[in-house]
Amino acid sequence: MSAKRCGVAVLASGRGSNFKAIAEACRREDFPATVVCLVTDNPEAGALETAKANGIPTFTVDAGPKKGRIPKEVEDEIASICEQQGADVIALAGFMRILRGALLDRFEGRIINIHPALLPSFKGLHGVRQALEYGVKVAGCTVHFVDRSIDGGPIILQSAVEVRDDDDEDSLAARILEQEHRIYVEAVELFALGKLEVIERRVRTG
Ligand code: GRF
Repeated sequence: MSAKRCGVAVLASGRGSNFKAIAEACRREDFPATVVCLVTDNPEAGALETAKANGIPTFTVDAGPKKGRIPKEVEDEIASICEQQGADVIALAGFMRILRGALLDRFEGRIINIHPALLPSFKGLHGVRQALEYGVKVAGCTVHFVDRSIDGGPIILQSAVEVRDDDDEDSLAARILEQEHRIYVEAVELFALGKLEVIERRVRTG
């Protein structure tokens, strides 16, 4: 491919299966994006192993012990890392911090997130558990743009998953996760191809 590939910075705090799905897709020669770095706030994150195995530069930041909160200067630091590594888009993949500052300013309209529920239902933590407890028959996952709200930015792609009578949180989460990997890769591809157009709250993918 002669055109410059879209640079993706991935931010992850944990296991990193979505990061892995994106990294593997980016290894394909015909895929329009490349992962330029992994940034984590957790030195134990499984995602670090995947990054090393794929030769992806890693950066571990110290965001402090309070989950959810991220100090302003650390958000600045992450934004600088992403810029220096040549990121065009930032993909949050199980990043357990809420962005409020520099990243949103410096990557406006260029941050995407995966959430394990059909938004706008079941925002926040434990989307799968909330869906099961509510008793929905259809659960799923959502890739969306990140804005200053919590899980409230414009929706890019969703995938529905049927809830079975014998599901528990683990079994349902596992089926949702398969769909997460599929739609997150598709969303990165659409972004990289310049196919996402946001009109008010609606995202055209054509
Ligand atoms: C996924 O369920 C994702 O939807 C949520 O956090 C989880 C991360 O999983 N935001 P993994 O680290 O990508 O395996």
